[in-house]
Amino acid sequence: MYLSAAYHRIPLSDGNSIPIIGLGTYSEPRLTPKGTCARSVKIAIDTGYRHIDGAYLYQNEHEVGEAIREKIAEGKVQRQDIFYCGKLWATHHDPQMVRPTLERTLKDLQLDYVDLYIIEIPMAFKPGDEFYPKDENGKWLYHKSNLCATWEALEACKDAGLVKSLGVSNFNRRQLELILNKPGLKHKPVSNQVQLDKGREVECHPYFTQPKLLKFCQQHDIVIIAYSPLGTSRNPSWVNVSSPPLLKDALLNSLGKKYNKTAAQVVLRFNIQRGVVVIPKSFNPERIKENFQIFDFSLTEEEMKGIEDLNKNVRFVEMLM
Ligand code: A2P
Repeated sequence: MYLSAAYHRIPLSDGNSIPIIGLGTYSEPRLTPKGTCARSVKIAIDTGYRHIDGAYLYQNEHEVGEAIREKIAEGKVQRQDIFYCGKLWATHHDPQMVRPTLERTLKDLQLDYVDLYIIEIPMAFKPGDEFYPKDENGKWLYHKSNLCATWEALEACKDAGLVKSLGVSNFNRRQLELILNKPGLKHKPVSNQVQLDKGREVECHPYFTQPKLLKFCQQHDIVIIAYSPLGTSRNPSWVNVSSPPLLKDALLNSLGKKYNKTAAQVVLRFNIQRGVVVIPKSFNPERIKENFQIFDFSLTEEEMKGIEDLNKNVRFVEMLM
C-alpha cells in the first residue's frame, strides 16, 4: 500500500476510508488553557493531517469543530477531506440516549455528520451527567447495558445520515464477536480503537503489539486504531509510570539515527506500515509536525520484525483513579 503525506487513506469495510494518521485531542481539561485544542487542530490541518480523533468526554469538541470550520471557510480543505471520529461514552449506552448524545456532539462541532462514531468502552456506567459516577464509598457505579441494543441505536444514526461509519473501542475478541454475531446485524464495526477488560485498557504500541487481536480484526476487516501509540503522556493519575518509557527504547532510537528520525517517528511508521491507524495526541506545534513526517522513509522487513519482537505485553494505562 503506497502512503504519502498528500494521500494516506486506507479502506474501511463499509466502502468509506480513513486517513492512517490522526491527531489525538485528549488533554486534561482542567490543565489545558482554552483555545489550545483549536490552535493545535488548525496547525495539524495546515501540516497535512486530515483525521482528528475526539470525544464528548474530552470536553473540547467545540474547539475541534471551530478549527475544522475555520479551515473549511479559509478554503484550505473541504468537509469531505476531513475525517472526524467521535465517541459514545459509558454513561450514554442506553439505546434512547444514543442519538441525542451524538446530536449533542454534532451541535458542539457545528457539523452535520461525523465520519466515525465509536462505543468508547464496552461497559456502562450509571447514566447521568457525571462522567465517572461513584458511590459514597468511592466504588464505581456500573450500569447493566446491552451492547447489541446500543449498536442497533448506532445503526439507526448511520441510516439517518448523522454518521458515516460505526466502530468500537477497547473491545476484546469476545465483545467484537457479540456484535459481529448479532442476529440481523445491519452495519459491521469498521474499526476497533482499543479494549477495556475489567477496568484495564489495551493499547497498541511496540511494548504491547497485540498480535492476536490484530489478526482477529484483520480477518474480520476491522481496522485497528492505535491510541497512545507513543506510550501515553505518562500522567501518574492514570498511567503506570513504573512501565518502561517507550520513546527511550534503544532499538527505536538506533533506527531513528539510521533514518534521521526520532524514536516517535519510527514507532508511528512501524504502525502505519503494518496497516494500523495511529492517533498521537500533541498540542505542541513542533511535535504535531514531527509526528506527521513519517511518509518519507520506510522500515525494512527485518526492522519491522525487530520492533515486533520488542513486545513485552506492557500496559501503560492502568485506570489508576
Ligand atoms: P504534547 O502534547 O506536549 O506533545 P497520547 O498518549 O494521548 O497520544 O499522548 C501523547 C503524549 O506524548 C502527549 O503527552 C504528548 O505531549 C506527547 N508527545 C506527542 N508527540 C510526541 C513526540 N513526537 N515526542 C515526544 N512526546 C510526544
